[in-house]
Amino acid sequence: MPDYPKIVVPPPGPKARAVVERDEAWTSSCYIKEYPLVVARGQGVMVEDVDGNRFLDFMAGIAVSSTGYGHPTVVAAVQEAAARFLHICGSDFYYEGMAALCERLARIAPGRSRKRVFLTNSGTEATEGAIKLARYATRRTAIIAFRGAFHGRSTGAVSLTSSKARQHAGFGPLLPDVHHVPFGYRYRCQWCADKPDCTRGCLIESLERDLFVRHLDPHDVAAIFVEPIQGEGGYIVPPAGWLRDLRALCDRYGILLVADEVQSGVGRTGKMWACDHEEVEPDILLTAKGLGSGMPIGAIIAKDAVTTWESGSHGSTFGGNPVCCAAALATLDLVEGGLMDNAAVMGERLMAGVRTLADKHRCIGDVRGRGLMIGVEFVRDRATREPAPDIVHRLVRESFERGLLLLGAGRSALRLAPPLIVGAGDIETALGMIDERLGAIA
Ligand SMILES: Cc1ncc(COP(=O)(O)O)c(C=O)c1O
Repeated sequence: MPDYPKIVVPPPGPKARAVVERDEAWTSSCYIKEYPLVVARGQGVMVEDVDGNRFLDFMAGIAVSSTGYGHPTVVAAVQEAAARFLHICGSDFYYEGMAALCERLARIAPGRSRKRVFLTNSGTEATEGAIKLARYATRRTAIIAFRGAFHGRSTGAVSLTSSKARQHAGFGPLLPDVHHVPFGYRYRCQWCADKPDCTRGCLIESLERDLFVRHLDPHDVAAIFVEPIQGEGGYIVPPAGWLRDLRALCDRYGILLVADEVQSGVGRTGKMWACDHEEVEPDILLTAKGLGSGMPIGAIIAKDAVTTWESGSHGSTFGGNPVCCAAALATLDLVEGGLMDNAAVMGERLMAGVRTLADKHRCIGDVRGRGLMIGVEFVRDRATREPAPDIVHRLVRESFERGLLLLGAGRSALRLAPPLIVGAGDIETALGMIDERLGAIA
């Protein structure tokens, strides 16, 4: 029997409260802090706080702890690399780990074209570099992104982000020539939410019959950035064929397709990349989050033909740090060696369980996802589909108090994104706890 979840003192306990107090006194005011979880250690899918409470983690540090906490293979790789050298600067010098990781990522990226890889410290840095690369390669300036998108928070990346207004407020002017269009959000689509099949209205009507006719010459567009499954926006899976249609649209105008797989990649959806479900080859693919099991590493994986930027035109002091490369290579071994398959099998189990919850709780309006990237959207009324963010807030908060770590996404969705090592027992436990809380809340 697992020794979690186990609450020994209502969180935040005394030790946790002391850390929270100190943190609040000294850390910058912009942090969100979802709930007062103060971590002491983690093991597998379990996170223990400083007061000895043990939580079952169904958010994986925001879809990052792909191999769980303290996986011995990852820890050994990190320790071994750390003992050799912590840094030399991969932009200027060579080491095997960087060459090996770039080769590995180039080989496992979707599609047959040869790829080249630039390593970053984060998803944001990957987005930022991709904006530059797309402009450099096409000598075009405009960028298209989707409503609800999240691509990061640096000035360039946040200009593409369209998730919450407060992420833009006070920071303008942002990057010019960035255009947002509706995403393939079936449940709330202005064209076909109530139609039996997706009409591709968001792509054809909003891009080809509106934006490209009235506002923007498509031949000025460098790239369309898309999350193949929208993450922060609410774990939204676009309709089947939607991503392929987007690929075809890009090809019609010589626009680069940039797939931001920072959240959806590295096995989370049951395949290495969410693009693989649709057999779409983007021109540029971005990864980070789960790639290093928690060590800060990301990548821009671009077609060789797109990688035209000259030596010295872009770089990064820490990007591709040798310890992070070792963590990423170990993570990829584990993901390819079984965790991706586990994500597919456990994802189906979790999805079936959530659908059963939806049969029972009328506040669940929509359930969607692939593998262990599942979104559950809450509504006040199934007929009007009025969002119910308060239900998500209460569910997340009250689950934390009982030993289950959850996280919201979008306006009124819950995201389920446990580590890829999650087992059937953990899924039953989480579903049972969510069921019990929804019964109490509704
Ligand atoms: C799809 C996507 N892109 C980019 C980012 C930014 O990544 P980071 O926080 O590592 O800078 C995120 C983070 O949530 C993300 O989900």
